[in-house]
Amino acid sequence: MSRARAAVGMAAAMIILGACSSPGGGSASASGSGGGGGNCVVGVSWNNFQQPRWGATDKPKMKQTIEAGGGTFIDADANLDNQRQLSDVDSLIQRGAKVLVLLAQDNKAILPALQKAKDAGIPVIAYDRLIEDTSGSVLYITFDNVGVGKAEAEAILQKVPKGHYVLMKGDPGDANASTFLPSGWDQAGLKDKIASGDIQIVGPKEGQFTPGWDTQKAQNEMEAIIDAANASNTKIDAVLAENDSTALGVAQALESKNYGFPPVSGQDGDPANLNNLALGKQYVDVWKNSNQLGIAAGQAALQLCQGKKINEVSINVDPSVAPAAGNSPTDFKTPGGNTVKSLILKPTPLTADQLGKVFAAGWYASKDQICKGVDSSSPGAAACK
Ligand code: BGC
Repeated sequence: MSRARAAVGMAAAMIILGACSSPGGGSASASGSGGGGGNCVVGVSWNNFQQPRWGATDKPKMKQTIEAGGGTFIDADANLDNQRQLSDVDSLIQRGAKVLVLLAQDNKAILPALQKAKDAGIPVIAYDRLIEDTSGSVLYITFDNVGVGKAEAEAILQKVPKGHYVLMKGDPGDANASTFLPSGWDQAGLKDKIASGDIQIVGPKEGQFTPGWDTQKAQNEMEAIIDAANASNTKIDAVLAENDSTALGVAQALESKNYGFPPVSGQDGDPANLNNLALGKQYVDVWKNSNQLGIAAGQAALQLCQGKKINEVSINVDPSVAPAAGNSPTDFKTPGGNTVKSLILKPTPLTADQLGKVFAAGWYASKDQICKGVDSSSPGAAACK
C-alpha cells in the first residue's frame, strides 16, 4: 500500500474510531487500524503451522497490526489437536485475552471454547475458518472460500472440459474443505458435467479427504488412485486439489509415478506451489494474500477491544482483496442455518503467466524461489524473465 493511501486509510480509521485515544500510546499501523489498544490483549489460537502461510503471513501481520495499535498479542498452537485447542483457549482467557481469534481445527469441536468466551463476555473472531455460532458473538473474517473453489474449477474446467478427474479434498472438520470449496467447484459447473457424463471421477466419488491437509497423506492417497487408475487403464486428465499442501502431495505422487502433469489446482500461493506453477507441475493457484487477512483481523480485534460492537467494526485492507460487500461486516448464512457477521476478502486466481502479480505484491515467496529451474520452455518463462 502506498504511504498516501495508508494516510487516507488512517484518517478514515481515526474518524471511525471517533474520540478513542490511544492510552498505550501506540501508533496506528500502516494499514490504518487506529490506536487505542492500551489494555488490549488479543489471544490467538492457531490450530497448526504446517502450511507455510500461517507462520509467514497471517501471524506476523496480525501481531504487527495489534502491536502497532498499542495492543498485546499472545498466541498458542494446538498442533492439529482438538483437545489442546480447547485448553489453549482456556489459558489465553486466563492470561487476560479481551478478544479471541480462533483458527479452528474443527468447526464443531471448538464450540465449548466459544461458550467459554461468551460466558466471559469475550468477542471472538473466527479466523479463515467458519465456526457455527448461534450466539451472535462471532465475527467471521476470511477469504471468499466458495469463490476460491469456483476459481479453481473454472480454470481447470476450461483447460480440461471433458475427462477423468480426481477430487483431492482437505480436512473433513474444516467447512472450507467439506462445504465451501466443493460448492464453488459445483458453481463452476463440475456437478453438471458429472451429471452429463462429460466428467468422470476417478477415486472416491465425493472426493478424497486429507486429514490435517497433510502433504504426505495427499501423496499416498494420490499414488493409490494412480495405481488403481492404471490397473483399469484409465487416464487421469485433471486433479481438483483444494489447497496447495494437498496439490503438492498430488504433484509429488505424479512425479514418483512418472505420470506427467495433468492440470492440478490449489490455493494459498505457497512458495513450492508457485514454483510448480512456473514449472508446469500445477496449473492454477488461487492466491490469497493472507498478509491482508492478518491485518484485517488485527484491525478488527483492536476495535472490538475498544468496545465496538461486531457490526461497528470497519477494516482497511489493500483494494486488491477488499471485500466486495464493503469494509463493514455483513450477514453470512452458514451451512448450519445460522447467521454470522462476516468480512469476506477477495482471492486472486493465478496461472503461470500471471506470476508477476505476486512479485509486485512483495509476497514472501521470492522471485528466485518461484522461478527456480524455469527455462525457456516452462510455463513461467515469460513471468520469470
Ligand atoms: C485454509 C487454507 C489452508 C488450509 C490448511 C484452510 O482452512 O483456508 O488456506 O491451506 O486450511 O491450513
